[in-house]
Parts: sequence; structure tokens; C-alpha cells
Amino acid sequence: MVLNTYFLEDKNINLGTFEHFYGSKLTNDLYKKSLEAIKQLENKSCKGSDFLGWLDLPQKELNQLQKYEELKQFFKEYDTIISIGIGGSYLGIRAIIEALKIPFQKQSKEIIFAGHHLSSRYLKNLLNYLDNKNFALIVISKSGTTAEPAIAFRFLYKKLIEKFGEKEISKRIIVITDKEKGTLRKLANQFQLKSDIVPDDVGGRYSVLSPVGLIPLSIMNIDIKSLLEGALSIQKIIRNQSEIEINPALQYALYRNLNYALKKQIEILSTYRPELFYILEWWKQLYGESEGKNYKGIYPASSIFTTDLHSLGQWIQEGERNLFETLIDIQEDDDLVLFSQQDDSDGLNYLSGKSLNYINRTALQATRKAHISGGVPNFTFEIKELNEFYLGILIYLFEYACAISALTLEINPFDQPGVEAYKTNMFKMLGKPGY
Ligand code: PA5
Repeated sequence: MVLNTYFLEDKNINLGTFEHFYGSKLTNDLYKKSLEAIKQLENKSCKGSDFLGWLDLPQKELNQLQKYEELKQFFKEYDTIISIGIGGSYLGIRAIIEALKIPFQKQSKEIIFAGHHLSSRYLKNLLNYLDNKNFALIVISKSGTTAEPAIAFRFLYKKLIEKFGEKEISKRIIVITDKEKGTLRKLANQFQLKSDIVPDDVGGRYSVLSPVGLIPLSIMNIDIKSLLEGALSIQKIIRNQSEIEINPALQYALYRNLNYALKKQIEILSTYRPELFYILEWWKQLYGESEGKNYKGIYPASSIFTTDLHSLGQWIQEGERNLFETLIDIQEDDDLVLFSQQDDSDGLNYLSGKSLNYINRTALQATRKAHISGGVPNFTFEIKELNEFYLGILIYLFEYACAISALTLEINPFDQPGVEAYKTNMFKMLGKPGY
């Protein structure tokens, strides 16, 4: 198996494991519904079935590696890349970049994100910062009409022309958007900008393994082949797989809905590796936007431990018992061993010879035990190391499990009607024509 899963502290998960904890009637009812969800997903009869393109992205994009290599060469000479986008056109890219970044190491190419909020302090200072940079833009928006990236792009486009001249726009901009709809596509056609397509049948939050994620990631020297191979390896294990012992996505989806049925409405996804901060943010969008509909759904929260054990730990251990926990456990880390010193005035000699990773993972095991005994169920994904291959596994697995989980609740995992409410108000208040 490419990854291990634990329910509580038990690695051998089968239906009986859940029956023992949640009761056999509830477990069997939800198991049947989960299998039905998988069936509907695979025969494309589920709610939102027009948006199932993400299921086949790993192999499809592995066949396009040459294209990504060419785009990487196209942007080779620029030292600063601005990736403009929000939601699914932002989070997955940042998640992978941050997870793989080596702390404190100066990169030959820098990536800066823009268009993911409306802070003028941020944008103004970014524009100043670019004065001395040889920069290029990747602007990503599936709809091509989202306000935040559109505003950022207007400023950054002007800056680019001021600094490098109009003749450079076709060399320094890549547009990733719908094949024909939206303002961004119009702009790309009008100014003959280099562009690629967000597939029609892939929604924003399921798009990181499409050109949306792969173009910026490849330009930033991420090994996208390995990322896609990881995704493909788990796809082969979990798709259409009804054996719970074999299918970690099915285990996880069932685990979520069992807790939800028992009124545990908050899920905390936690990790002991701060590099995963944006993976947790990406996961929050995936689950929050996919499932929070029809006045149903689990609220996705996140924690980085041990940091948050000193802030939220108390609540998790002894606050209201309406939450459950999911853990990403990474086995390997850089090697740093605690040394012994003659003067043991800090009292740490008992740890001498132990690696910091061993201590971190002991904290994980100790906390998991404490949370379980405090009434917080735990499901763990254990992976070997933090690299492109394992990130590909996690991404595909979370996407597939999210679809099963939402469909089990009879929710369409692929739309986001609630996102429009704030936009309508905002556009009305700002006087946008037609609102
Ligand atoms: O999952 C989704 O579809 C959304 O969250 C979008 O990713 C987000 O709203 C950005 O949309 P767009 O890429 O159209 O600018």
C-alpha cells in the first residue's frame, strides 16, 4: 500500500472496526450509501455528473508532459512569477509549492500570489516590489470574471507594460481560463496572449492536477510527473473499489459520515508538519465548498500541531464534544539529533541521541491517544515522506473521498451556489452594471 490508514490506533480497518465504535446498524446503513455513491460516481449518474473530468486527470495530463516542459522553457528567464487567482485557482498551487519549499533556502525563481484577496496594502507594495524584478504573470480564472483576480490583473498588467513595453505582453503572460467564455478569454484572444484551458468538466477546487495547477508548478520546477504518478497510483487503488479494507477513500468518507450522523459536525484536519499549512487550506475549500449545502455538511477546520496544542489543544481535549479529528502523519523528516551536554541544566539529556522527528512523532502518538480518550475520534493517513509523489496521492484521495462523502449526504459535490450571495450584494453595492 502507498499509504497507511489508522482508525483510532488500529491499522487493520474493516467494517467491524467501525461497527464496534459506531454500532452495526449505522455503520452498515452508511456503508451501503457510500457504495451507492461510488457506483453513481463511476457510472456518471451522480448529482453534478457534468463535472467528473477530474477523475481522469492524472493519466490525461501525464500524456501532456511535453507541453508543460515547453511552457516552463517559455518562462525560464524570469526571476519572479506572479500567480494571480483565488479559490481553486490559487490554493492547490500554493499548497504544493509551500509543502515542498525548503525553509530559508533562497530560490532561483520566486513565486508571488496575487488576486486572492482585496488588500490594497498588499497589492500596492507588490507593485513597488516589482520595480527591480524581471517578472512575468500567470493569470488563472476558470470563469474569467472573478473580481479579485481581475482587479489584481488590471494593476499588474499595467505595471508589466510600463516596465517592459507592450511588445513583451505575449512573452510574459500566460492566461489559464475557459476555452471560450469570460472576459479573460476575450482579453487573451484580443492581445494574442499565450493561454491554456481549464477543462469544462473540471470545477475550480478539483483543478489542481489540470493546467490550473500544473503550469505554474512546472514553471516553479516542481516535479509534476511525480505528482501525477502519485495521483495515478492511488487512483488505481481506490476507484470503483468497494472493499473497505483496500480503499482508504471509502474508509475516510464513511468515517466522516459516521461522526456526522452522531452530531459531530466539526472535523479538524491536523498535522505535525507546518509545511502543510496550505494543504490544509486547500482541503478546507475542497470539503467546505463541496459539502456545505442544503443546510448540511461537516465544518472543515484545521490545526498545525504541536503549535496549536498550545492554543486550541485545551478546547479539543475538553471543550464541547462535537468534533472529530483527521491526521496527516508523515514518517520521515530531515535528520536532527538532540545532543548530550555535560551541564544538563536545561534537563534535556534524557532526550540525547533521539531525533527531533522521533520526538515530534511521539508527540503525535501521545496527543492522538489523549484526544481519543477525551472523546475525539481519530482517523490517520500515514505517508512516508513529503514529496511530489505523496502529495499527488493525498490530493487525489481527498478529492475522491470528498465526492463519496458529499454524495452519501445526497449533496452535489461540484457546484457552489452559496458563493454567489456575497457577490450579488457586493456588485449591487459597487454599482456593477446589470446588478
Ligand atoms: O471551486 C470553485 O469553483 C471556486 O471556488 C473557484 O475556484 C473560485 O471561485 C475561483 O473561480 P475562478 O477560477 O472562476 O476565478
